[in-house]
Amino acid sequence: MTVSYPFPQNFLWGVATAAHQVEGNNVNSDAWLLEHLPQTMFAEPSGDAIDHYHRYREDIALLASLGFNSFRLSVEWARIEPEEGHFSKAELNHYRRVLEVCHEHGLTPVVTYHHFTSPRWLLAAGGWEDARTPELFARYCGKVTEHLGDLIGVACTLNEPNLPWLLKSFGIGGESPEQRGSVPVWAAAASTLGVGADKMAPFQFSSTEAGFDVKLAAHRAGTAAIKAWQPDLMVGWTLANSDIQSVDGGQDAAEQVRRDVNERFLEASRGDDFVGIQTYGRTVYGPDGLAPAPEGAAMNQMGEEIYPQALEATIREAARVAGIPVIVTENGLATEDDAQRVDYYKAAVDGVAACLADGIDVRGYIAWTAFDNYEWVFGYRPKFGLIAVDRATQQRTPKESALWLGGVAAGARVPVA
Ligand code: BGC
Repeated sequence: MTVSYPFPQNFLWGVATAAHQVEGNNVNSDAWLLEHLPQTMFAEPSGDAIDHYHRYREDIALLASLGFNSFRLSVEWARIEPEEGHFSKAELNHYRRVLEVCHEHGLTPVVTYHHFTSPRWLLAAGGWEDARTPELFARYCGKVTEHLGDLIGVACTLNEPNLPWLLKSFGIGGESPEQRGSVPVWAAAASTLGVGADKMAPFQFSSTEAGFDVKLAAHRAGTAAIKAWQPDLMVGWTLANSDIQSVDGGQDAAEQVRRDVNERFLEASRGDDFVGIQTYGRTVYGPDGLAPAPEGAAMNQMGEEIYPQALEATIREAARVAGIPVIVTENGLATEDDAQRVDYYKAAVDGVAACLADGIDVRGYIAWTAFDNYEWVFGYRPKFGLIAVDRATQQRTPKESALWLGGVAAGARVPVA
């Protein structure tokens, strides 16, 4: 059966990247510091990544040739402000060239101002729990928008401010400031920076209430700073949205996590121009807490059940709770089996279509991720990319999934249910 695809004319069809995961040599960032400590939790350092910093022209041309009409990328605070208060005109101009190339190829740039990594000096200054961080972030947002704002299509302030709470619900991280001194990597980072371990609050790892307040204040101050230069620019933040479900006996636990990880962030988004939804799968609670994946379920490279239907559920939740337009700013699958990825995208795009058919205001679908890249603590092993990269030669090779999704984006192919 052919389904009717209610995608509006100006719907954003794109792919996403994040600076640290693709550019290479982000040496002034907190992530670079953590990757190089002997006590690191990173499987390997990011190194040259896929050298997108130098290869952006060819990369952007390739994305456009596949049929996409938008590209989500992040600008790197650690490059733009490598020391507190010192802004690099050369790096701002670098990103200006990147955005110009997007426009030359007809790609609307969806620009993230902060995608996990911060300047190393910010970590030393108390990072994402310090009361000064919102104003420092807002100053950086203002500089970026002053120099680049006329070329930005959609602005995302913070990427996944709620991730630490999602990780904590999986039993990962979540130490209190007092406990950090007993975690080798935080103790080592603190001694390298010459500050107390209780101060170690990188964006992706701090899940304290102070961290919540600082991120929300940074988002609000950042939004105001962006709007001061570009009042009409669409601004929002992007959230990590698992589809939280329960089976008998797991309702209370699921409810609590849904509240902490999803709803309070969605409620805080009210008043923004949009909220970015980033969904990879579902989390199911039973009487004993997190329930294992169903017997025989196909699994991804991260050891999780493959469950593309999660996207539709989280779009509906976001629209219901936040009551503002939604952009899918990430959705994807880590697998070596690209046919699995094509099936995943087919199901996910069907879910978006169902939301649109019900009148939900979804403005775009941006897949994670353009290229196989640096998957944070997991290093280069997980393959989320639509385009394969041979890191020895930096040769790019589009996969079938890139052709399929690009084809849908270009309207060349009508997906079949
Ligand atoms: C992040 C990406 C990451 C992806 C896959 C999201 O949490 O924004 O940076 O690579 O998920 O794990």
